[in-house]
Amino acid sequence: MNHMNFNSRRILVTGASSGLGRQMACQLALQHHADLILVARRQEYLQELKVELESSAGIHCQIIVADLSQPEDVERVFVDATAYGEVYGVILNAGITHFGKHFTLPWEGFQTMLATNVTSVVRLTNLFVPYLLERNSGGGIMYVSSMAGLLPVPYQAAYAGTKAFITNFIQSLQQELRDDPVSLTVFSPGGIDTAMTQNSKLKFFENTALLQDVVPCAHEALVAMASRKLLYVPGHLNRAQLFLTRFAPRGLVGLITQSTYKKALASA
Ligand SMILES: NC(=O)c1ccc[n+]([C@@H]2O[C@H](COP(=O)([O-])OP(=O)(O)OC[C@H]3O[C@@H](n4cnc5c(N)ncnc54)[C@H](OP(=O)(O)O)[C@@H]3O)[C@@H](O)[C@H]2O)c1
Repeated sequence: MNHMNFNSRRILVTGASSGLGRQMACQLALQHHADLILVARRQEYLQELKVELESSAGIHCQIIVADLSQPEDVERVFVDATAYGEVYGVILNAGITHFGKHFTLPWEGFQTMLATNVTSVVRLTNLFVPYLLERNSGGGIMYVSSMAGLLPVPYQAAYAGTKAFITNFIQSLQQELRDDPVSLTVFSPGGIDTAMTQNSKLKFFENTALLQDVVPCAHEALVAMASRKLLYVPGHLNRAQLFLTRFAPRGLVGLITQSTYKKALASA
């Protein structure tokens, strides 16, 4: 299959109100001249972005205000997105985390995380993959997972579990679809300088050298999606770290993360 070409195509981005999703939406509009379907809960942020991108990039933005932890909103996202024109690309980026001991995450909080990070993603996959296959336009879906889906991450245990699900689910599903005209890409960043890390109050995130800037991260994500990579980790440092972990027992990798987070959580 040829590379994806976003020009004048409609691309849906979940979690477009902030951070990585917002930045991917900006680059899709300004650099690729794509029309956008922006999804998130905070309507005012989506509206502001729509006005900004429609005037600066001359593209069209559709807004869908939806809480992806709610099954009926997830169904509505598919119905509304496909009602006004053909969707060519889907970026399932919305996600939430919890920093801290697993047992400090209330049960309702875990259920919301599971519904947002996993259930909505599987449901939208079940809806969009047959849709894209039927259109045979060579479209694709990108899943924003995390390096936390590839490594043990104590003090983000449930989050790491949700991202591991997505990473393994999509890598498996892609093999079922390998002869079909649709591509699935798992994008797995390390730390990114967004609200997710800024709001965490963890001291080591103040050292932004440990965090990738959102602009190059979004750029790498769109290149990975366009070139139909199955799994892509952005940033040289992240890839070097991941390479080194191949030679260390998983227990040791988990222990190093545990001691870094434990100190940071104690001083938070
Ligand atoms: N930041 C990092 O270090 C990092 C590292 C690896 C992977 N990631 C992943 O990158 C993705 C984007 O995160 P970010 O860093 O850009 O964080 P962010 O700035 O907090 O953005 C999260 C986005 O998800 C949306 N969202 C959250 N819950 C939602 C819900 N129930 N329904 C609809 N939208 C919802 C938020 O919009 P509303 O609040 O307006 O709904 C927001 O637009 C996430 O999947 C995250 O797991 C982040």
